[in-house]
Amino acid sequence: MKFITKNKRETQKLARHLSGEFLKRSNPKKALVIALSGNLGAGKTTFAQWFAKPLGVKESVKSPTFVLMQIFKTGRTLPNGKRRLVHIDTYRIKRPSDMLRIGLKDILKDPKNIILIEWAEKIKGLLPKDGTWIYFKHAGRNRRIIIVSMTPHQILKSA
Ligand SMILES: Nc1ncnc2c1ncn2[C@@H]1O[C@H](COP(=O)(O)OP(=O)(O)OP(=O)(O)O)[C@@H](O)[C@H]1O
Ligand SMILES: [Mg+2]
Repeated sequence: MKFITKNKRETQKLARHLSGEFLKRSNPKKALVIALSGNLGAGKTTFAQWFAKPLGVKESVKSPTFVLMQIFKTGRTLPNGKRRLVHIDTYRIKRPSDMLRIGLKDILKDPKNIILIEWAEKIKGLLPKDGTWIYFKHAGRNRRIIIVSMTPHQILKSA
């Protein structure tokens, strides 16, 4: 699926919409993993912030660049037993195993988790093969191309 947003507001609305859709379709037995990929300033954090809104997260979702990972409780149990939003930003890690030291394996295993990962390509080998990937591309100052794909493999074929 390919979307073009003309401004930040449109990306926010898209994120809020996809949040509901992904949640509805999520597997009750597996964590919902959404990998976000794209250059600096392409819109990954903006997307994450608005993805969080329908989940009832009370704290504000900021760029976790300096803390690697932030975990938010949802206000209530969501469809398919989801109860937590985990926001990860791997921009500053040196090697993928840095994520293992902060417990990525257990986080990925917990079916209660919804996990958003910025710069996910840096840890692609650690992520489940069936995760959803979202690619953000600059297409002008305020335009972004946003491509949603079930696997990185699919995106390469359709690009
Ligand atoms: N269509 C658009 N969608 C999203 N953001 C937009 C759009 N047009 C302009 N912007 C601006 O682009 C910037 C996106 O920043 P954001 O922090 O979301 O990017 P990011 O991909 O998380 O970057 P980083 O890799 O540095 O974490 C914001 O300043 C936002 O106002
Ligand atoms: Mg960011």
